[in-house]
Amino acid sequence: MKRSDLEILLREGIIRELHYYDEAPSTNDLAKERARLFSVSESAVMDEECYELFIADTQTAGRGRMGRIWKSPVSKNISMSLLSKTALPGESIPGVTLLAALAVTDAVTELLLSEGRSDIAEGIKIKWPNDVVISGRKLSGILTELVFPYIICGIGINVNTPSFPEELSDKATSLLLETGAEKNRAELINDITRRLISYVNQYEQEQDLCFILEKYNKLLVSMDKEVILSGYPDTYIAKGINKTGALLVQDSSGDVISVSSGEVSVRGLYGYT
Ligand code: BTN
Repeated sequence: MKRSDLEILLREGIIRELHYYDEAPSTNDLAKERARLFSVSESAVMDEECYELFIADTQTAGRGRMGRIWKSPVSKNISMSLLSKTALPGESIPGVTLLAALAVTDAVTELLLSEGRSDIAEGIKIKWPNDVVISGRKLSGILTELVFPYIICGIGINVNTPSFPEELSDKATSLLLETGAEKNRAELINDITRRLISYVNQYEQEQDLCFILEKYNKLLVSMDKEVILSGYPDTYIAKGINKTGALLVQDSSGDVISVSSGEVSVRGLYGYT
């Protein structure tokens, strides 16, 4: 991948800055540094509806959710972070993460359909709030961070990873492993960026997630299935998200409660999802 493969986003006016690195520790960290600069400097400004994109061809110290490490082989995968200034209130910000999962799902589905692989596209699901999975294995993870009022939405996708260590092989997958063919990372980044920005702009206008509810709930891997919530003794049945992006779950007596992504993690009874 080269910087010039991504410059179309600048020419189209979709983003105002492209920060491209052959190698970087973490694109989220670079975007956070930039956000801090905007916060303290009067000469460096960013308006709402302006976006800056951070891309690393290779990321050497990627971070995942809950303090985990996000590893990627050299020049194989997507490591991207989108920086924007938000007008959303603090409690609405976790919703951006759900939109990122949807943008990745849309772009990967379209790519697979264009290759005539509807069999694989049908297996793409979202593990609430924001993992994209294929056939129960993780393809993409999202780490949204805040340097208020700036949002950093970091996306990692296993695109051309040829193999995973044994302990991950039933939990993680890549597009190469699923389809047997390498994919063009820059084209996927361009598509995901356009879709994510369009979703975020709509979210800022509408202020809730009603516009994606039906689509997201159809993709939810745990929909109507039994799930375990971290810190809760019982099992529940997942019933989809509500307009704030919280997950609705039903207990054995039929009562439905909503849980937010900052509060709990969810897993099914068997396997990673
Ligand atoms: C997760 O599933 O735990 C989230 C993984 C997020 C990884 C991406 S890669 C680009 C960006 N930079 C990082 O250091 N992390 C995110």
